[in-house]
Formats: sequence, C-alpha cells, structure tokens
Amino acid sequence: MATRIRRTSQGTAARRAVAGKASGAGGVVTSARMRKLLASALAVRQRAHAPYSGFQVGAAVLGDDGRVYAGCNVENSSYPVCLCAERNAMGQAVARGARRVIAAAVVAPSALPTPPCGMCLQAFAELAQGDIPILLANTDGAEEQVRLSDLLPRRFDESYLPPR
Ligand code: THU
Repeated sequence: MATRIRRTSQGTAARRAVAGKASGAGGVVTSARMRKLLASALAVRQRAHAPYSGFQVGAAVLGDDGRVYAGCNVENSSYPVCLCAERNAMGQAVARGARRVIAAAVVAPSALPTPPCGMCLQAFAELAQGDIPILLANTDGAEEQVRLSDLLPRRFDESYLPPR
C-alpha cells in the first residue's frame, strides 16, 4: 500500500524558506570578501576535531547567495572516516541553500599554505561556479591565492558519464 504524504502548513513554510534562500544574487568576489573568507576559516579552525593528527584546518566558502559558510576538519578513530574542513564547509553551504560556491579560503598550521586534498578538489569541481579563486594560508600569515584549475587542471565531471 502506498504511503500518503501529509502536507502540513509547517512543512510548506519550511519549503518556502529553503527556496527563498537559494534565490539570492550574491555573486561578486571582491578582495574584501576573500579577507572575510580567511577570517571565517581562521575562526572555525579553532573548533576542529583533530585529536589524531593535531592538524587543525579551517575552510570557508562563499556561496552564490553571497553568504560565507565555514567548516573545520572532523577526525575519527577509524581514520578513513575523517572529514576535511573544505568538504565540511561545502556541505554547510549546500545544506543552507547555496547551489554553487564562488570562492574559498583554507587555513592550516603547515609550513607552506596547504592546498585542499584530491578528494576536496573533486568536491570543488562539482560545486564550484567556474574557475574559482582559492586563498591558501597558514597560521603564520603566509598566503597564496590560486585558482581551482591551478590545483586541478583536468577535472572529472558529469560530461564523462554516460547519458542518463
Ligand atoms: N585536512 C583538511 O581538513 N584539509 C586539507 O586540505 C588537508 C587535510 C585534514 C584531514 C585530517 O583531519 C588532517 O587534516 C590531516 O590530514
């Protein structure tokens, strides 16, 4: 027997709120916004759960709605379960209604500014609106701004999948 889905007024309001958030016109990447991304990445880094590596990473992405979403790394005693800061930040963006990310910043306590790992680059390839700027930084103040294509010149995307 088919299950009937009841549409409550609460559900309708929630759906409206979600649709409204996605429609914002947010899209200009200014240097002020890149500074804001770095500040958010630095702040959220303090919340990292990194008891195994001791390597606390913060990331922030600018959504196409003009809002900043931040994420830290979240490690696990089962090491492959670890979540990187960048994918955490992208998950926050999508969950709150952004559809694309238009810029990002990453900060880690490395000697040289840390680039996102390969898995996170692939996640950027999925969600980035074009060849987005990514600001890499370390906790000593070293910075390098690159583009996604510098780090991932030949991205795998849906165009390689068979037609559905
Ligand atoms: N990590 C990130 O969160 N982002 C990166 O760009 C590189 C690595 C995390 C994963 C793990 O928790 C720790 O840093 C050490 O690899």
